[in-house]
Amino acid sequence: MTGGAVFPGVVLVGFMGSGKSSVGRELARRFGAPFVDVDERIERTAGTPIRDLFAREGEPSFREREKEALREVVSVKGCVVATGGGAFADEGNRALLRSYAPVVYLETGVETLLERLSGEAEPTAGDAVRPLLRGADRENVVRDLLSRRIPGYREADFTVRTDGHTVEEVAGQVAGWLERMEGRTG
Ligand code: S3P
Repeated sequence: MTGGAVFPGVVLVGFMGSGKSSVGRELARRFGAPFVDVDERIERTAGTPIRDLFAREGEPSFREREKEALREVVSVKGCVVATGGGAFADEGNRALLRSYAPVVYLETGVETLLERLSGEAEPTAGDAVRPLLRGADRENVVRDLLSRRIPGYREADFTVRTDGHTVEEVAGQVAGWLERMEGRTG
């Protein structure tokens, strides 16, 4: 940050395929801050890929694990946090994350999402497959989930549109906003 200000941390939210992990890594590099990927953390704690957790325990159990992981994540200040696409859909998670750090929504249009997630239609795509997108009606699932989640995502403090932009460009927008915010409050 400018003038020796302490980096406040930032939370990235948005739908699957909106670039939260890639943009998060880039922001962490720019600010020299720790990067936390909540999904990776859940997998590490469980010792199992998320798709297996969904298959074995079902979505409600995954959501409990996600809540637990978020409670742990917020105990360390000043991190760049990339959440899973469903995390910010929960009111309690929203309150927790908003009290942790500024929240940025990586807003992405449905056509871009469908394009970025197109590989997930293949049941043989292995590790890349997101469990919620496995069915044949992937497009309807994306449209439906997105429209239900948008009101929650809009509770973020700042929104960056990602369509047609590189990871570096999106990270630049987020970084610029954080710097301006710091200038106003610091
Ligand atoms: C989910 C998104 C995934 C992961 C899980 C559920 C969702 O994270 O948390 O498969 O409900 O949208 P990404 O957004 O990083 O793919």
